[in-house]
Amino acid sequence: MFISFEGIDGSGKSTQLSLLRDVLEAKGHSVITIREPGATLLSESIREILLSNKQTITSTAELLLFSSARTQLVEMIIEPALRDGKYILCDRYVDSTTAYQGYGRQLNMEHVELCNKIATRGVMPHVTFFIDVAYEQAQQRMQFTPGSAEPDRMERSGREFFERVREGYLAIAKSDPQRFVVIDGHRNREEIHADIVAYL
Ligand code: ADP
Ligand code: TYD
Repeated sequence: MFISFEGIDGSGKSTQLSLLRDVLEAKGHSVITIREPGATLLSESIREILLSNKQTITSTAELLLFSSARTQLVEMIIEPALRDGKYILCDRYVDSTTAYQGYGRQLNMEHVELCNKIATRGVMPHVTFFIDVAYEQAQQRMQFTPGSAEPDRMERSGREFFERVREGYLAIAKSDPQRFVVIDGHRNREEIHADIVAYL
């Protein structure tokens, strides 16, 4: 089973992913946890380029780089794990591209959808949990993260950008309510976790 987690930066996705992993492992399931962009050598290298503040990256180059990182991950890790019947928990997947590059960067949505189709090879999560948190709260959570570094290239995009991203996620929820589950993220970790487990 393939489960992805979505939300703006600092919403608490990674926290929820690891809480769910613990529950599934305690039940004896075989679980793979991955993050996007990342998880393969190539995808981690692309991640470094995408998040580094060293250079300017145009929005279209950004779209293509996220897509390249994704397709490598799908073919090398997700497809084999699905064939083996494992649980795959993914910190971000294709909805991040729709929300960040489509709504956030305001790229041509047909181009974004085409890239998503190519990159995923048609592999979609069975369920996606969108941890919905307002920009201010997510910012606050990131500031209080111990050892949190300087904001990366994406995190420097500013309030208006992240408000468009959040709107994008809410639009996905409307268009695909069967898969894309909106979870109120303005609560404590345990309440959010309980909702996710109850849904599953
Ligand atoms: P993301 O993966 O979405 O960037 P994280 O899971 O890393 O978010 O959480 C960002 C910060 O907020 C971390 O310091 C985490 O401990 C904290 N956090 C996560 N969930 C909550 C919550 N429900 N309430 C308060 N703080 C939270
Ligand atoms: P990451 O540190 O994983 O995000 P978070 O802090 O939320 O855990 O950084 C990934 C960044 O890349 C994040 O800002 C979201 C962005 N992103 C896109 O813009 N498009 C994508 O397709 C993906 C997968 C991520």
